[in-house]
Amino acid sequence: MTSTETKDTEFVDVTGIATTVEQAVLTRHSIRDYQSKPIEEKVLQDLFQKSLRAPSWKNSQPWKVHVVSGARRDKMANLLVERAKKGEPIPDTVWPASFPANAKKRMFDLGMKIYGVAGIERKDKEARDNFMLRNFEFFGAPTAVFITTEFELNFYIALDIGCYLNTLMLLARSYGLGSVPQAALSAFPEVVRSELNLSESEKVVCGLSLGYPKADSDLNRFHTPRESSGDIVTFY
Ligand SMILES: Cc1cc2nc3c(=O)[nH]c(=O)nc-3n(C[C@H](O)[C@H](O)[C@H](O)COP(=O)(O)O)c2cc1C
Repeated sequence: MTSTETKDTEFVDVTGIATTVEQAVLTRHSIRDYQSKPIEEKVLQDLFQKSLRAPSWKNSQPWKVHVVSGARRDKMANLLVERAKKGEPIPDTVWPASFPANAKKRMFDLGMKIYGVAGIERKDKEARDNFMLRNFEFFGAPTAVFITTEFELNFYIALDIGCYLNTLMLLARSYGLGSVPQAALSAFPEVVRSELNLSESEKVVCGLSLGYPKADSDLNRFHTPRESSGDIVTFY
């Protein structure tokens, strides 16, 4: 695992296994181009067992985790893409509607970075829409994960599920796997409930794509920037 930096972009080699927590943290970033190679059954079993060590409010463990591979993954990708083409998301959760100006700039920069490496012109709405649809194809990942809850949706449930997601993503690095958390996969909960035979009371909070990253894909290699600790962290 190596890292190089150009003027404003850091590129990280996404192949290899993280053997320390620090390596996992420093080499985890969102992977949006996967090898089709399936994840070994033993790896899935180990990873998802260990992921349940994530902390939660009073150990309430509000999550249910649905790991979808193989033919069902393919079917769900088709259904989600078809649904996304038809119209607006109707998530179970409230998606944020407004952001502070500096966050908007970071979000804009991310979009520009992704479109840049994907070779998409900013004005090419069709190409941007098609790339957005890749969310629902799990960016080619062999495994899709849907995190649901039967708990009443609130702020702390979201925190707990955030803790779960990050535990899963960091652990994935210790198996050489990449991932991307996706609010997009909560856009059409009725499709998820119907395909996974879930009850109406099971709400879809977030999803995640999981698999072995394509090593030579520029989409995978760039590291998004972070603010410096001097601007964010206060030591007393
Ligand atoms: C709650 C959450 C939802 C996200 N939803 C999406 C999504 O729907 N599609 C996507 O491509 N990336 C999604 N991301 C990934 C973020 O864009 C990414 O984490 C952020 O830009 C930082 O980059 P990094 O993960 O590469 O470090 C999401 C991340 C989080 C934490």
